[in-house]
This record gives sequence, C-alpha cells and structure tokens, in this order.
Amino acid sequence: VFEHNAFDGHEHVAFYQDNASGLKAIIAVHNTNLGPSLGGCRMWPYANSEEALKDVLRLSKGMTYKAAMANLPQGGGKSVIIGDPRKDKSEAMMLAMGDFVQSLGGKYICAEDSGISVENLHVMSQRTDFASGINAKFRYDGSPSDGNPAPSTAYGVFVGVKASVAHKFNSSLEGVTVAIQGLGHVGFRLAEHLHKAGAKLIVADIYPDNVAKAEQEFGAKVVAADEIHAVECDVFAPCAMGASINDSTIDAIKAKVVAGAANNQLAEEKHGEMLRAKGILYAPDYVINAGGVIDIYHQRIESTAEDMRKHIEGIGTTLSEIFTRAESEGTAANIVANTIAEERFLGK
Ligand code: NAI
Repeated sequence: VFEHNAFDGHEHVAFYQDNASGLKAIIAVHNTNLGPSLGGCRMWPYANSEEALKDVLRLSKGMTYKAAMANLPQGGGKSVIIGDPRKDKSEAMMLAMGDFVQSLGGKYICAEDSGISVENLHVMSQRTDFASGINAKFRYDGSPSDGNPAPSTAYGVFVGVKASVAHKFNSSLEGVTVAIQGLGHVGFRLAEHLHKAGAKLIVADIYPDNVAKAEQEFGAKVVAADEIHAVECDVFAPCAMGASINDSTIDAIKAKVVAGAANNQLAEEKHGEMLRAKGILYAPDYVINAGGVIDIYHQRIESTAEDMRKHIEGIGTTLSEIFTRAESEGTAANIVANTIAEERFLGK
C-alpha cells in the first residue's frame, strides 16, 4: 500500500521480475521535461523491495537536479537490481535488465553505478538501445577513456574547490589546506589535482594503502577516518559515503569551505542552513560532482574532449552564481541550488 505522495513527484516507476534469470529490478524516472532521464543502475542486496524503492526514488530525483544544474538536456532516472553483485549477477540477468530498460522506450538511459560495470552495460546493450557509458572515446584531457567517469568527476570537483576557495578566501589554491575524506576513484584523483595546484593535503581512508600512496606521492598528512572532518583546515572535501555532514559531525568541522564529491553529503537539508549559520561555504554536492554525468553526455553525442572539458569547467561558474545568490538572499546554498534546478526543470 503506497501513500498518496509515495512516488515523490516521479513520472514513471516500473517494477520488473524475470523468473528465468532471477532479475528483480525497479526503474524510476523522476522527470523528463528537459530530455530523457539518465542515471546509473545500482545492484545491491536490499533487504526488501520497499528499501530498494526508497533508494531508487531518492537517487533518480537527485539525477534530475544534477542534470538541470549541469545544463544538460536530460532528466533524472535511476534503476536498482535487488541482489548481491558478487553472487547473484549473471549474463542472463544483464540481458533481462536490457529488456527492461528497452521496455521504457528511451525514457530512461542506463549507466554504471555501484555493483554494475561497463562490461555489464555492454551485455545489456545487446537488448537495449538505451545503455550508455559503453562507447566512451576520450577523457576531458584528450586521453583515451575506458568508460569510467571518475576522472571527469574528480576534475569537476577540483574546479569546484577552486571556485569555492576563490569565493570564500579570494585566493588561489596555493598553500590552502584541504582535508579529503575518502581516497577512492574520485578522492585520489582530486588529491592529485590539488597537490599540483599547490594545496596542502590531509587525508583519510579506511584502507591504509590508499592513504600511504597519497602520503608518498603528495606529502599528504594522514589522519584516522573518524577524525578527518574535524581537522584544522580550510576546505573539507567529503569523497566517501553520504551524510558526512550530520548532527554529530557538524559542530566539529573547522573548515570554512565544504566542497567534495560524495553524493548526499548533508544528512538532512537543514544541515545546509546550519553550515551557513556557522559561516561555512557549502558547494552543493550534485552541482560540484556533475563531471561524471557531463562526461557520459559528451560520449553520447557528437563532441570533443575540449567541449567536454569546457562543460565540466562550467561547474565553477555555476557554483559562483549559487554562492552569490545565496548571500544576497540570505539563504543556504543547497536551498538556492534546489530552487534554480526546479526553475529549470519545472519551468517555474
Ligand atoms: P570509491 O568507492 O572508489 O571511493 C570511496 C573511498 O572512500 C574508498 O577508498 C573507501 O575506502 C573510502 N571510505 C569509505 N568510508 C570511509 C570513511 N568513513 N572514511 C574515510 N574513507 C572512507 O567511490 P568513488 O567513485 O570515488 O566515489 C566517491 C563518492 O563520490 C561517492 O559518494 C560517490 O557516490 C560520489 N560520486 C562519484 C562519481 C564517480 O564518477 N565515481 C560521480 C558522482 C558522485
């Protein structure tokens, strides 16, 4: 039984079950006013379908806001497969997922997400015309791409950190201290860009080999994973999991800028206002981390690495506009970003 507003403004929510392969999946299309919806397919051992539905609705809505803020002619969608990607995944299941994606007739374009690889998308593409991330040709810097959008995400976050620091401190990154939480695909590459730009780094990860490499290559200072948000620094860059800004961490943050790659950094929207009240500039997550989705877009159209790079660099300009509007309206940056995105995709 679903409550009246259970689908949270979504256009289309579809459930699919394929008994032969064991596929159980949901596709959520949040909004297609600006174009077809695009978003990753996540495979996760959800405890039940309600949990899976909640996740796919939240994630697909986020993709609409992300696409709108990145000036992309597309909407937001996402899909989830209920199952353990290490145990339950099979070729037959990926083919069935391809059928499911195809059944929406192009309203939803599927990409990689946690648990789903470029290879899986290749299999889906045998059954659907709407699988992306499989024909990647170039990265934003002109080097060849294997389809992983993380380098573009990291570059966009770097551009966003630079714009945030310029706004807050009226300075370049030279000598600025950045604390990075999580040195994975995005965090490590961000560290590399920041190091080259002359920033000082403090890093943490739950895997010691990731931090050891940053210590060696960039002279980063290493701290424990549960301390990184509270270190003395200028910028805190959450690049691990979501909700790192929450009731129990917010008071300890000493940075004057929060700007990083993680999705859903604020545990709740109210934490954006709490950051503002503390004089901390917050770069809204779905604005600063849009480099990956911009990358996927440029791989789908006739485009060049140069066009992609310029588009990613637009993240800096968009952030500066948000910061200026937030200050003039006395509103938190996350609320301003939501408003601008809604102005775009709802035509308000
Ligand atoms: P990843 O899984 O490669 O890296 C995450 C890193 O964070 C791992 O090294 C992990 O060990 C570490 N970590 C986990 N919990 C931690 C903790 N409590 N403290 C410190 N480190 C911790 O993921 P990836 O691709 O680098 O993504 C990072 C974030 O950026 C995620 O939130 C993701 O949703 C978001 N994002 C990624 C995009 C991409 O293109 N890969 C695009 C947009 C957003």
